[in-house]
Amino acid sequence: MADVQTLTVNPARGDPDRSERGGSPENWVKAAALAELRDRRVMTVKLGAKQIALFYSDSGVYACNNRCPHEGYPLKEGHLTEGCILTCNWHNWKFDLESGETLIGGDQLRRYPVELRGGEVWLDITDPPAEERIAASLAAVRDALRNIDRRAEYDRVAREISRLQLAGGDPLEAVRATFRWTHDCFEFGTTHAQAVAPDWLELRDSLARDRASKLVPLVEIIAHLGEDCLREPRYPFPTGEVSYDPDLGAAALVAAIEAEDEAAAIALLRGALNAGLGFAELERPLVTAALAHYADFGHSLIYVYKTGQLIEKLGTEVTEPLLLTLVRSLVYATREDLIPEFRAYAPALAAWDGSGAAEPKVEDFTRLSVRKAMRRVLKSSARPEALFDALLGAAAWQMLHFDTRMDRRSDNPVSRNVSWLDFSHALTFANAVRATCRRYPELWPRGLLQLACFTGRNVAFVDAEQGLDDWRVADPTTFLDDAL
Ligand code: FES
Repeated sequence: MADVQTLTVNPARGDPDRSERGGSPENWVKAAALAELRDRRVMTVKLGAKQIALFYSDSGVYACNNRCPHEGYPLKEGHLTEGCILTCNWHNWKFDLESGETLIGGDQLRRYPVELRGGEVWLDITDPPAEERIAASLAAVRDALRNIDRRAEYDRVAREISRLQLAGGDPLEAVRATFRWTHDCFEFGTTHAQAVAPDWLELRDSLARDRASKLVPLVEIIAHLGEDCLREPRYPFPTGEVSYDPDLGAAALVAAIEAEDEAAAIALLRGALNAGLGFAELERPLVTAALAHYADFGHSLIYVYKTGQLIEKLGTEVTEPLLLTLVRSLVYATREDLIPEFRAYAPALAAWDGSGAAEPKVEDFTRLSVRKAMRRVLKSSARPEALFDALLGAAAWQMLHFDTRMDRRSDNPVSRNVSWLDFSHALTFANAVRATCRRYPELWPRGLLQLACFTGRNVAFVDAEQGLDDWRVADPTTFLDDAL
């Protein structure tokens, strides 16, 4: 720089936006003597809670947060090139102190406007308004989603949510926003990314004890959505709308899903939402459609159940994006009761009469094939909840007796390609059946017979004779606490 002493006002070396906005005069503070900075070229100053790095170069005087926005190492230990390109030597992120751009890396570096008043360096340390900081953090989360795999941006999402929180924002807003941004990036609708989200939020509410552990569940949700959407284009939803008749709308929605007519189903959904209906009013047709078939290996019902929980936790702002994604998934679900392995389902459902009061036992179902398990369900004619308990117990027994040799083999034919997931999934489905059918008892026959599809299929992959000692724990409560 020709003569830094001649630069009296230098907002462009801070943040151009801030020069237009103008900081409060009282927030201009004297930071250092210019002569000292010129001699040392770089120094740090502490102003209130801020630790600020000052740089003197041929291009000007610059001020920025001393903590690198990546992992917090001191930028004072970095080096300047081209007058204003600051490199953090820890991981080589590069920042243009003139333009504010992050040239290599992700997060924005906080810079401060500089004024040279005679022989002194003055800084405007006004913080941007909270709304501006929150909006910037949300924009950064969205940017991070685009690079979630390439740059392992998981950590950036965590940092930006922390910044949002420090600015006074609601960290859940980052989650809500991500559902809105991504809802039309799922070609076939809901995935595990939406379905696990309420469980992460529950863990956050019930178990996370400090700010860091409360952050992890939110990052998991956002990163999972980002990964499932990675490199996906938009799959816009049909824009039509049909008014949702209070008496006939539910049946029409179920019929549209059954007909795999996405345009008709979405039009009805839009009509319902615009009439002020929410998940509570739409739950019955949605679970009815989900249980109309052994749909997507039980995923459809799980997705409806989990979507309801998610809306309850995040609020109605996410109702529309989540229900659009959900309805799409119901429309495109594979009807697995139509394949030979589960074809006994429809006749069994037709034969259900719901009478009787027998008390079925877990052992009744642990070793029966799909067809036989369904026959047993029909024959027992027990109360639905008693049948449920027996089937759930059988599913749990099967998981405990999973023949893990199957899991370790790499040459299983596709039809015998099983893992723990096949067993745990039966339990996840059972949980959705229990919650759903208690609220809508007319659906018990479907839920129970589909649970029999799980136990009937999994029976081929258990070893009933294996010892269970390896699985036992001395104190189940302590074990569970540790695992959580
Ligand atoms: S801490 Fe600065 S680049 Fe990693």
